Amino acid sequence: MSQERIQRIGGELMSGDGPDALIARGLLRGSGIPSELIGRRPVIGIANTWSELNPCNGGLRDLATHVKTGVIEAGGIPLEFPTISIAEAFIRPSSMYLRNLLAMDTEEMISSSPIDGVVLLGGCDKTLPAQIMGAASAGKPFISLAAGPRPLSRWNDGEMTIDDLWPLLDKRRGGHLDDPAWAELEACLSCGVGTCNVMGTAITMAVVAEVLGAALPGSALIPAGSPARAALGEATGAQAVAHVRRGVTPNHFITATALANAFRVVCAIGGSTNAVLHLQAIAGRVGVDVGIDELRRISAETPLLADVKPSGRMFLHDLHADGGVPALMGAMASLLDLSASSGTSRPWHESTRPPRKSPTCLASLDAPKGPPGTLALLSGSLAPRGALLKASAATPRLCRHVGPAVVFDGVEDLRARIDTSDLQIRADSVLVLRGVGPMGGPGMPEVGHLPIPTRLLDEGVTDMVRISDARMSGTATGTVVLHVSPESEAGGPLALVRDGDPIALDVDALRLDLLVDERDLRERSRRRATSQHHTRGYGHLYRQHVLQADQGCDFDFLRADHG
Ligand code: FES
Repeated sequence: MSQERIQRIGGELMSGDGPDALIARGLLRGSGIPSELIGRRPVIGIANTWSELNPCNGGLRDLATHVKTGVIEAGGIPLEFPTISIAEAFIRPSSMYLRNLLAMDTEEMISSSPIDGVVLLGGCDKTLPAQIMGAASAGKPFISLAAGPRPLSRWNDGEMTIDDLWPLLDKRRGGHLDDPAWAELEACLSCGVGTCNVMGTAITMAVVAEVLGAALPGSALIPAGSPARAALGEATGAQAVAHVRRGVTPNHFITATALANAFRVVCAIGGSTNAVLHLQAIAGRVGVDVGIDELRRISAETPLLADVKPSGRMFLHDLHADGGVPALMGAMASLLDLSASSGTSRPWHESTRPPRKSPTCLASLDAPKGPPGTLALLSGSLAPRGALLKASAATPRLCRHVGPAVVFDGVEDLRARIDTSDLQIRADSVLVLRGVGPMGGPGMPEVGHLPIPTRLLDEGVTDMVRISDARMSGTATGTVVLHVSPESEAGGPLALVRDGDPIALDVDALRLDLLVDERDLRERSRRRATSQHHTRGYGHLYRQHVLQADQGCDFDFLRADHG
């Protein structure tokens, strides 16, 4: 491979003759990398979000060694570097608050470093989308590799996935889970490194990366820590070298077609609602407009094909055994544009495969697992710019519902009052939580899955209509309306709702309405006090520039159309 044929994008430090190049190569020589090789071979960065503060990504340090092997065997030089890492369970007020920071970190490290291409090692929910956003903006060849799902746990002699946790938390709140059981739950919650082991946000985004052509076909569902994932690491490293040699930059694969395919696949797997935000943000990075009408059309055309938790009954390993994403893409080929590139940089139709004989989890378009419309993109007087409900995880009888609002202003208010005996609430009430949107949260914390009051739980109520400008975990279920836009903090109608106001949800009509006279709302709006936030540092930047949920909560100045 001659030096001239390598697409050096900002990599002059590795191949020039000036003093800067001499110093750069000389210093790398001190790390055992011969200068003569650096000048002739593609230099592949490995952006690693491994962190002891992020257990889901705990396997990435080992995985990086396999990526390096693949890079070296393909004739490249691997250079691993760290970026920040965002753990869903650890970061407060919200991991989403730091997604754009990781995206900026990733973009700037790729752009500023003398590397020709990069492998992105991510996993826990926000890490993969942040890395893809940053790499898409940086413009150098990249490929991503996810941590993979962690092993199943065991609880009460049965297999347990992370979504089984939510009803147990309700039990504990209601006093029906004693201390020994609580301690046992903590001990068995996680059986190893890797991301949440259902079709939550992390795995949905790994699937999205695969469909976008940003990861190798068949990669998303391979278990964390398995020999197959180690082999995948080597293959991914080799593919990064191939991308550099062929000049495969992000605009080759993150296209309007690929984004539409990805959204369609999210619908077909009953994927995480968070994926919609991340896809909109990624689309904004490459100058593609994903409007609500387009998303509605795709959702309305796409039935549920994967019977996988939390929308369905089966496990990720069942979907993997059925053939994973390549089989899913094959099963829904007539709904997709398979001329879009896969992670091999070849058209996707070369990588689809038939499902295994008698699949247990994956259905065909002729006999789907559920009807179209798994993701309901709502709008109406309560959500002029949109809101989202995962219809495949909702209670059908609540999908057409009118009930009186019970309003909570922020998480502290919710925690303080939800289980008090004087809370005026009944089974048909509509729980409203506000002040938890992109600015208000900040970062749209995953609190949209409001707890049902223990008093109602004890009466046998298992679901209620819940509405907020927050997000919810991709592993949660229920009739939960999320991402109400504009958020209350930005002056959306959610800020005007009062206890007792009737709210109407109609999922078939894709409507969410506040049934209050417009004149009353204008009067309430006139009296509304605006909140004052005094922030500094990243918080200040965030508040000034974060976009609303319908634009994926990216920063305005990071979108392709900025300036
Ligand atoms: Fe990290 Fe779910 S908490 S993937």
